[in-house]
Amino acid sequence: MAITELVKNVLQHATRANNLKLLLTLSAFFIYKYRSHAIGTRRRSDLKEPKGAYPLLGHMPLLAMIPGTKLYDFFEKNYRELGPVWSISLPVIGRMIQGDSPEMVEHVLKSNFWAYEKGPLLKGALGDLFGSGIFASDGANWKFQRRQASHIFNVKAFREYTSDVFVIEAQKVLEYLGKAADAGTEIDFHQLMLHFTLDSFGAVSFGESFGCLENIEGKVDFAVSFDDLTATCSDRLMDPAWKIREALTSVGAKAKYDKALIRKHSLEIIQRRRSEGFKTVSTKKDLLQLFMEATDDEGEPLSDEYLVDIILNFTIAGRDTTAQALSWMFYLINRDGTDKSIMKTLIQEVDDVLGDDLPSYDTHKQQKYAEACFNEALRIFPSVPRNLKICVQDDILPDGTKIYAGEWFTWSSYVMGRSEAIWGPDVLEYKPSRWIDTEKPSQGKFSSFHAGPRVCLGMNFAILEALTVIGMILQKFELTLVDSAKLPPYGVSVTMPMLEGLPMRVTRRQAKEGGGAVAV
Ligand code: HEM
Ligand SMILES: *[C@@H]1O[C@H](CO)[C@@H](O)[C@H](O)[C@H]1NC(C)=O
Repeated sequence: MAITELVKNVLQHATRANNLKLLLTLSAFFIYKYRSHAIGTRRRSDLKEPKGAYPLLGHMPLLAMIPGTKLYDFFEKNYRELGPVWSISLPVIGRMIQGDSPEMVEHVLKSNFWAYEKGPLLKGALGDLFGSGIFASDGANWKFQRRQASHIFNVKAFREYTSDVFVIEAQKVLEYLGKAADAGTEIDFHQLMLHFTLDSFGAVSFGESFGCLENIEGKVDFAVSFDDLTATCSDRLMDPAWKIREALTSVGAKAKYDKALIRKHSLEIIQRRRSEGFKTVSTKKDLLQLFMEATDDEGEPLSDEYLVDIILNFTIAGRDTTAQALSWMFYLINRDGTDKSIMKTLIQEVDDVLGDDLPSYDTHKQQKYAEACFNEALRIFPSVPRNLKICVQDDILPDGTKIYAGEWFTWSSYVMGRSEAIWGPDVLEYKPSRWIDTEKPSQGKFSSFHAGPRVCLGMNFAILEALTVIGMILQKFELTLVDSAKLPPYGVSVTMPMLEGLPMRVTRRQAKEGGGAVAV
């Protein structure tokens, strides 16, 4: 390399003064070369950028200034001011090209799927959560896991088993609500849904719940470690120096402890299952049993460690996301400004479809309005608000924008869900009727469950779970927000948690003639 030769030569003959001069010249050269973008990235004067880039550091200082609870406002502001395509550059991470349009999202996730991968980010900060599991892997490794899992998720016996589990776990939710209604105490609905979805995952995966719903005020070790590990990994996303920070504080050791605890607990259940066998009176099977009966490409059974990986990765994928969507839905329906007839229509459907009976796999298919309510909440508060993939082969986006290998394509379902251009002038209104008697939106338009070959594997699972618990709650209770004028702040994470929970009040529904509400 000519430049390194030159530097070596100069250094050999340099005096101290010359050295300093050389250093200054080199610095000036780099500052000039990277005067408007981050070091190591390609200059892209063809792309629109938010103002405030620094030489060498690019947009890093600007991003660091944004408070967590305003993060998605930054994306929305850029969308309004710069249009659907804009870009930032960051040192180490690289250039990110944001493309918030249904065409772009379908292009990257579907039509030109081959040109984009997950890349290294998920393996770094989020490595403790995803490792090389289905979420973070690409190519053959991903394909194998996807094929195996989608087979199992389509087994009829599994669907019926999950439906039974959701009913059993929702009954525990009702018991808790009944007590709160009688005592007149406020509840944290967000926390309640997090307990419900975690216990449901325990039962679906291992045939036994983790016991959170029986012990709401107390603490279940598994749940605490699971939550702490998720939170620690989310914090890493906002802190490029997380490795150093965690090494210098107790956070690193706690994360190790949490991970070991949840894995050990899972492993024990698997070993118990191996020694005791699967006891069931019906043909229904849990996730563990189905995966234990599966084999790898060589026809060998899966190892215990691998079973733990699969089940915990699914739990991470499906637990918080579903609980958050349920919480935002209950907020949106009850907030000031939402049409009051929406809740009435929803309750009417519950009474019509379920009456006093328990829901089942078949009844959930008739809860069309509840499903519309759930999707409409996911439009405004998508559980995965923003996402990214790395380009691995130079490509051209549908609007003609070039994207080079090594650059990131980023998009935000949150921004797109709030775009008038995409959803019309009433975009900010919570309006489930936009889902009724209309054509299903494309995966690019409604991207809350992702799109293309890697579309969410648990979508039907999540919908079944949500409709079961919504139906059972509304059969018996009325819930109202403690503060219906307050927008709950979100936390910064890969997902969309409510930072301060969702305080609600509960009363029993008045029994009315011809069914509907009954006492618990
Ligand atoms: C409302 C609830 C849910 C939402 C909004 C949601 C959304 C998503 C999104 C956006 C992705 C793509 C993530 C990415 O690749 O970057 C995804 C992937 C995935 N989801 Fe969900 N999800 C939900 C519930 C669930 C549930 C309950 C399960 C499991 C039972 C699940 C399992 C998965 C899996 C395994 C993947 C990875 C698929 C792959 O890469 O091939 N999800 N989900
Ligand atoms: C998810 O799976 C990957 C590998 O398959 C593993 O490295 C990772 O630890 C798993 N996540 C958890 C929380 O166990």
